[in-house]
Amino acid sequence: MAFSQQFLDEVRARVGLVDVIGRRVRLTRKGREHSGLCPFHNEKSPSFTVNEEKGFYHCFGCGAHGSLIDFVMQLDKLSFPEAVEKLAGEAGLEVPRSSPMEREREERAKTLYDVVEAACRFFERQLRLPEGRVGLDYFRGRGISEDSIKKFRLGFAPDGRGALKAHLTKEGVAEDLMVEAGLVIRTDDASRAPYDRFRGRVMFPITDTRGRIIAFGGRILDKGEPKYLNSPETPLFHKGYNLYALSQSLPQIRTSGQAIVVEGYTDVIALHQAGIATAVAPLGTALTEDQIKLLWRHAPAPVLCFDGDAAGARAAYRAAERALAILQPDTGLAFVELSGGEDPDTMVRRQGATAFATLIASALPLSDVLWRMETQGKRLETPEARAGLDARLRELTSKISDETVRRHYSDAFRERVRNLYFQRRPGAGQGQNRGQYRGQNRNFGGKQGFDAFSAPRMADNAGTGAQVDPMRLQEEILLATLIGHPRLNDAIGEGLGSLSFKSQDLDRLRQEVLKTLSVSPDLDFKGLEDQLCRTGNSELLGGLLSRRVYTHARFARPDEPVDDAERGWMHFYGLYRRAQLLEEIAAVTELCKAEDSNPGNFALLKALKQEADTLVAGLVEGAHVSGNANDAA
Ligand code: UTP
Ligand code: MN
Repeated sequence: MAFSQQFLDEVRARVGLVDVIGRRVRLTRKGREHSGLCPFHNEKSPSFTVNEEKGFYHCFGCGAHGSLIDFVMQLDKLSFPEAVEKLAGEAGLEVPRSSPMEREREERAKTLYDVVEAACRFFERQLRLPEGRVGLDYFRGRGISEDSIKKFRLGFAPDGRGALKAHLTKEGVAEDLMVEAGLVIRTDDASRAPYDRFRGRVMFPITDTRGRIIAFGGRILDKGEPKYLNSPETPLFHKGYNLYALSQSLPQIRTSGQAIVVEGYTDVIALHQAGIATAVAPLGTALTEDQIKLLWRHAPAPVLCFDGDAAGARAAYRAAERALAILQPDTGLAFVELSGGEDPDTMVRRQGATAFATLIASALPLSDVLWRMETQGKRLETPEARAGLDARLRELTSKISDETVRRHYSDAFRERVRNLYFQRRPGAGQGQNRGQYRGQNRNFGGKQGFDAFSAPRMADNAGTGAQVDPMRLQEEILLATLIGHPRLNDAIGEGLGSLSFKSQDLDRLRQEVLKTLSVSPDLDFKGLEDQLCRTGNSELLGGLLSRRVYTHARFARPDEPVDDAERGWMHFYGLYRRAQLLEEIAAVTELCKAEDSNPGNFALLKALKQEADTLVAGLVEGAHVSGNANDAA
């Protein structure tokens, strides 16, 4: 039987190479590849590699090599059609039966792609005509650059019932195809002529992973309903399976192993425009399991950053629940919250890319978020209340179908529930987080402190999004990490010494910490803390060694592994240096503009820019590490 290219693509897209092979071979991830013991010959050390990105496996021992379908054919001794059917079955795809019909459908699909592409070009052109001026003004008014308009192929659908239809007709496209492509609507009422679906809207084309246009979202210019109108499901477009801007984001997602999921098309565009080119969005529906799986192929723990409103919080909760069912070892989701009414678009415009990157680096892993959702704002003093919590956590855990992941979730939750008993003892924990620093009474390693840090209330955390000055927060993290881990002084003291903080109080403390450690290099956390309290820093320390800071940088806590602390510190150090460099660059650029500018300024500018580039390259790697630092706890 002949399978259409489209069908084979779909099979490949739905079942990942690593998923399929990982079910038969124990694979471990090494950079962009996975490796394991070759199933085609007998070996003791792994020479079998799988490269999801390139779409093939290769054994350096026996030379076995091939694609997803080859693998199933070889290992299960199946014919090509059998292998395809088997994989399609696993993906829940129906195998097309009749080959002539199938071929016809393929032809049709090919032409459907052409039709949608032609429509895209039409919309792009309209944007440059007088009729489309309102659209162009709209994009400009929202701060969308010319580059972004080109990159995302934004366009305009003119008002009027049949502008696109007339254009496509002229191009020789049959009306049936326009309807099938979701561009033209035909009603049951035969007396009404078919009409354009998109009228008087700015257009956001939606692509598949290969970058082919498959559908559109159209936004109304003024107020009105619906705000966004999307193409219907068509043979090309499956809302629940594709993601907005995935094709534009894949290169960066692949190199960084990171992906950010936001709610809106405009959020995606604003982030890309700010240099954060790993942002994608669902297509007018809640995030689906298929979309999560699609992301997992390239990014083990995508970060969800939904709008800071009730709808955004609900959407995040639904995504969290949905992810449970499909969690696998080494995959996850992380979450950040924006505060009061902010969305990623407004936040990145107002606070800049560095602030946004800091926020993403502080994302909380799924398990923490679930815990928080179940415990926030609840009184859990009585055994009955805790039993209730226990039951709800069990119910959540039972949704995890992977046995290993489920076991680890149960263990972690059970441990946390148990810790609640210690935490809520009468007299324990009161007032610790009100800025009143109580010095040695704090017990990081023990049970008392646990809940206070791992279950911050939503309301508290909401504040960490936009209201905080990101530079100051970074300064606090950098300093808190060294105070919590004085042993790191050898590794990071010099870096910290080379900075000068903007917040004067923190800068003074920075110098004092460094001086103290140079005089007494063997101080541990407690010793250092005592010393600093004695010299009148207890209040400042109280704010610094707090859950407010630890929510963003768990690794800074004294009871976290020192390796995590070092990696986390390096990451924030990079972010901070970058922000500082950008400011220096701006200042030197001004100097260079002066007519009598010293030629040395140009050289300096060049050097600064180079340093900034190097830092950015390092940050992309480091952001990932920092995410893991959160996970590790
Ligand atoms: P938002 O209303 O948050 O979109 O809906 P946005 O991109 O922030 O909107 P503006 O342009 O900045 O005001 C988030 C997403 O939900 C889908 C769209 O995909 C949108 O990008 N949506 C929203 C719809 O499909 N239909 C609607 O009527 C509204
Ligand atoms: Mn929004």
